[in-house]
Amino acid sequence: MLALQQIGHSKIRVDAREKISGSALYLADYDVGDCLQGFTVRSQRAHATIKQIVFDADFDWSRLTVVQAADIPGRNVNPVILEDQPFLADRVVRYYGEPILLLAAPTLELCRAAADHISISYEELPACFTIEESLATSTPFFGEDNSFKRLQINKGDIEAAFREQNFHITEAEYTTAAQEQLYLEPQAMLAQFDLEGGLLVTGSLQCPFYVHSSLASAFPELVDRIEVRQSVTGGAFGGKEDFPSLIATHAALLAYHSGRSVRMLYDRAEDFQCTTKRHPSRTRIRSAVDTEGNIVALDVELLLNAGAYSTLSQVVLARGVLHAAGAYHVPHVRVQGNALATNLPPSGAFRGFGAPQAIFAIESHLDKIAQELNQDPVVLRRRNLLRPGDTFSTGQLVQTDACSQVLERAVSSSAYEENNRADRVFNDSHPTLRRGTGLALFYHGAGFTGSGENRIQGCALLQGNVDGTISIRVTSTEMGQGAATVLAQIAAEALQVSTAMIRFETPTTQHPDSGPTVASRTTMIVGKLIERAASELRERIAEYSGDEQFRTRVSQAVAAGGLETLSSYEPPPELKWDEETYQGDAYPDYSWGCYLAQVEVSLLDYSVRIRRFTTVQDIGTVINPALAAGQVEGGIMQAIGFTLYEKVHYADGKTLNAGFTDYIIPTLADLPQLAVEFIEYPSDRGGYGAKGVGELPFDGVAPAIAAAIRAAVGVDVRHLPLLPEQLMELLCQV
Ligand code: MOS
Repeated sequence: MLALQQIGHSKIRVDAREKISGSALYLADYDVGDCLQGFTVRSQRAHATIKQIVFDADFDWSRLTVVQAADIPGRNVNPVILEDQPFLADRVVRYYGEPILLLAAPTLELCRAAADHISISYEELPACFTIEESLATSTPFFGEDNSFKRLQINKGDIEAAFREQNFHITEAEYTTAAQEQLYLEPQAMLAQFDLEGGLLVTGSLQCPFYVHSSLASAFPELVDRIEVRQSVTGGAFGGKEDFPSLIATHAALLAYHSGRSVRMLYDRAEDFQCTTKRHPSRTRIRSAVDTEGNIVALDVELLLNAGAYSTLSQVVLARGVLHAAGAYHVPHVRVQGNALATNLPPSGAFRGFGAPQAIFAIESHLDKIAQELNQDPVVLRRRNLLRPGDTFSTGQLVQTDACSQVLERAVSSSAYEENNRADRVFNDSHPTLRRGTGLALFYHGAGFTGSGENRIQGCALLQGNVDGTISIRVTSTEMGQGAATVLAQIAAEALQVSTAMIRFETPTTQHPDSGPTVASRTTMIVGKLIERAASELRERIAEYSGDEQFRTRVSQAVAAGGLETLSSYEPPPELKWDEETYQGDAYPDYSWGCYLAQVEVSLLDYSVRIRRFTTVQDIGTVINPALAAGQVEGGIMQAIGFTLYEKVHYADGKTLNAGFTDYIIPTLADLPQLAVEFIEYPSDRGGYGAKGVGELPFDGVAPAIAAAIRAAVGVDVRHLPLLPEQLMELLCQV
């Protein structure tokens, strides 16, 4: 077999030059001639009935386009999973900042001036903002009990297990808070009608066909004439998964009614205030452990604060409950999940998608058990971790030894024992600093949850060009993570040419639907589609060797009538999933990680410094080591923010710190020494054996830091974020 030329090599990003030189055009950079600026008039109440909207008769409205709910040609329903969210609030507003009216004018200044001449009167309704308030309310606004979705997983016999007398029972509650994605480029969308009435929407987005289906809801008569195209996207992290559907439809409504092109660009404050954030969570865990330290039973309740509309909360909850029992073999498990409606802006997708909340809880709980049993956390994990032949909570069979391998490698790479000893010596002698080491062991389901991949049925098209290059036509988007490069490497490998021969075409709904760019699925699932399409294409052309012969062969084939191959997802027949019982193969495969944090806590100012972070992960075949390490490093930094710095302050549902000034995220100054190691257990369901890497790195960071703080100063960190003032309170209780 030939050595791989592309796979496993840190090829330069295909978009490196345009990103570094500044020639990449983000939507704000587009020169679109005489286009109008769009503006959103938003609710100033968290929950209210709109009584009246009055337009100042003395204001000159002639240069403005105004759109209200009644002006939507189709349905005022943003179809995500449930159909509970309107494009524009009609009679009721459910969160502060909810869109009520849209304005378009030649300048944003004119829009703002006009907005000052619109007065909206409200009649306030009772509002709830927290999980507790939502549970306790006597006036639910969704269904009978404010629940968007309930899920339950049962394995074994939980009741019987807890009736046993000799078990050590540990019960605790864990909470996590909202987190803003803070992609550098705020939400941006441009809507244009052509002379024949076709609608082109271009913008910063992850999922072209999600946007397409929302536009089709608002403009049913245009359904066959809508194209959605991605512009260069400056970060997303899940924040451009469902939200772009809303702003795209707004821009299109304004274009439709003004007869002009309309661009909507949110500024940071608007983006921060009004777009989705990570779901705040509350997890309660009750565990039973036998005298030897085997975890016998886990009873988990995971509640998510979903905000005012359901958006993707059902799926976030699904991923949450499927990761809630941790990377352990437990015979008796019950996981109950509930996504609750509140009057915060809708919570949405954010890297990890429910898993970080659940994994923080279960991994912190493991540490609590270890402490109560006076066992080393590594020993407790070693005894209980998932090994080949064990089953997850859904009954899915564990295939590989990756779980124990990542643990053992992390322990040896980080010199765990020696460091613990060194920490103790340091702590005995230092007057004000305390060091500690903690770790987390975890997995992340790669690909869509449950039967998602079967439903999506992703397709990928490879097409020869006259110049002899090959175009990849998919809807998988490059948002900074490196998908364009990695997918090009996969195609080039299968074709045995260099990536110079491959063109990753701008994703658009004119391409076959390879599915949304979410759920750590792209390299794995779409990579596999491209690998297959490229292998077929290779067989279609006569023998060649090297780029130049290939170029000639492709040109000839194109001239002779075209050259293209389309591959579509073939569900592995052995994968079974039962949506009703939540039993079966929850994911096509799993990535695994063990992350180890070494921290230093100051007893003077209660700050936490991360000294060193050791990560070992199995993401299957590593297609591009530099890009994969970049995903890990970025994920860690983002999760350090989630753990130690980032806190959204609300007052009656309004965000008080909607910007970089007082919403604190880690900077390079907070970057710990980082070790990134990969162990490869390739998956035959992924492109060249790849599994997912996008989200995994977020999952293990918070519990590793919490455990390290516990080791350093002996406090029980169960509520995130842990700002210095919270750590001070914890230490004062000790
Ligand atoms: Mo997502 S958090 O883009 O699956």
